[in-house]
Amino acid sequence: MSDHSRILCPVLQQRIMSAEQAAELIPAGANVGMSGFTGAGYPKAVPGALAQRIRQLNSQPNAKPFRINVWTGASTAPELDGVLAEVDGIEMRLPFQSDPICRNRINDGTMDYVDYHLSEVSQYAWSGFLGKMDIALIEVAGIREDGSLIPSSSIGNNKTWIEQADKIILEVNARQNAKLEGMHDVYYGTALPPNRKPIMLTDPADRIGEQYLACPPEKVIAVVETAAPDRNSPFKPSDEVSKKIAGHILEFFNKEIELGRLPKELLPIQSGVGNIPNAVLEGLNAGPYKNLTAFTEVIQDGMLKMLKSGTLKVASATAFSLSPDGIQEFDDNIDFYRDKIILRQQDISNHPELARRLGVIAMNGLIECDLYGNVNSTHIMGTRMMNGIGGSGDFARNGYLSIFVSPSTAKDGAISAIVPMVSHVDHTEHDVKIIVTEQGLADLRGLSPRQRAHEIINNCAHPDFRPALIDYYERALHSGRGMHTPHLLEEALSWHQRYEQSGQM
Ligand code: COA
Repeated sequence: MSDHSRILCPVLQQRIMSAEQAAELIPAGANVGMSGFTGAGYPKAVPGALAQRIRQLNSQPNAKPFRINVWTGASTAPELDGVLAEVDGIEMRLPFQSDPICRNRINDGTMDYVDYHLSEVSQYAWSGFLGKMDIALIEVAGIREDGSLIPSSSIGNNKTWIEQADKIILEVNARQNAKLEGMHDVYYGTALPPNRKPIMLTDPADRIGEQYLACPPEKVIAVVETAAPDRNSPFKPSDEVSKKIAGHILEFFNKEIELGRLPKELLPIQSGVGNIPNAVLEGLNAGPYKNLTAFTEVIQDGMLKMLKSGTLKVASATAFSLSPDGIQEFDDNIDFYRDKIILRQQDISNHPELARRLGVIAMNGLIECDLYGNVNSTHIMGTRMMNGIGGSGDFARNGYLSIFVSPSTAKDGAISAIVPMVSHVDHTEHDVKIIVTEQGLADLRGLSPRQRAHEIINNCAHPDFRPALIDYYERALHSGRGMHTPHLLEEALSWHQRYEQSGQM
């Protein structure tokens, strides 16, 4: 039996109820802003209770389908996206997901999805074109006496959801480490244009805001107590391919330092989630680097190790994304990590002004890249959504260096990650500076499209696909058409068509 020790506000103690009771307060068609970012800090109980209610209501004869619109920080977990998608309970989902059931619904057309740059979501909500937010459903680590909230393992869009929603449901999760208190930095100085002021953050270590989320108690209609862990997916151990990719990046950094183009502490690093970025972090940790900084979206295991070893001195992010071993390490040593990690809302952690000012080194994954450096990081064969653009665009466009990484092939060698023309563009040739596969690294800075094609084919393409890429490029070059960005339009997407028809590019 809980002693409600994490709910110190007397008024809000009166609103404690079960997840099932709280789920009853969410009406059909509601716009619900939920907490959650990369499997951290999402509500763990009310979405499941709501899914059960939806299943029951929708199973009644002639029932009008009960669906809600789900807005979050980023991806969540099976207990949120999975359960609601399974009962067909989501009409519209934004701004990022990575759940398999959700993905199937998006791709079979039974769920609408808008994937936004993560830094922009709060501005869109504020500007009103997404519609009115009815309910915010937010996980917190505790409620203080004055009703202010101790954020949990992610902040994401929580500040905006709490401000925008008519009503608020709080999940207070006793499983979240109580010592998270004080690690957050919630900035209250944002505004819509023309009232914006510079954001006075000049170092990833800067604190510019408050430790707590302000929350008017009168808007809180329910408080639910939980004690469940975050998703905490394990990382695959680094394989040969990711080790080679990491090796190419480290070699590149060392050369840039030698040439005086990067300081020896590098510049603040941003690393996407996934096994390859994690392997790069492992590689950095094994290298000669000291006192690096991170201005990124998520803290993953590799960053904890770097903080532990002194390779990294501070990390700014909006969420954790740790494996079970990583969370154990963090919980066991939270006193060490507390002053080295700052969690911010995502409109600040990913802010273009800050990424540009700090000169972030952005490292993100790609699905495919074309001969000229356009990158697709969201769509399989141009039509099927994988996850979403997430924060990659925030950092790639505005960072100092934008690095995109991938194995040179997918699906056991049937697919080339380097194609004549990408089937969908997320990052244009103007935003992409470096491409890295296990084959090598293409430095596209200062190169014309034709020069880029040589660099990408020779350094990044898999040898099995290199001759066909050269053949395409040469024929395009001599086709008598435009020479700036040579293409054979009738063939440009033929690799994708071939794969769709035969299972082999
Ligand atoms: N065609 C078809 N499938 C492809 C493919 C291609 N060209 N390239 C990769 N895939 C598949 C892989 O086979 C794998 O499928 P599986 O899960 O069924 O095995 C899946 O896509 C993931 O690929 P993987 O090589 O393991 O890379 P990853 O886990 O690093 O993911 C992205 C790569 C691009 C999907 C991922 O980085 C992403 O979602 N990026 C966008 C968001 C982002 O960058 N966020 C960063 C800020 S945190």
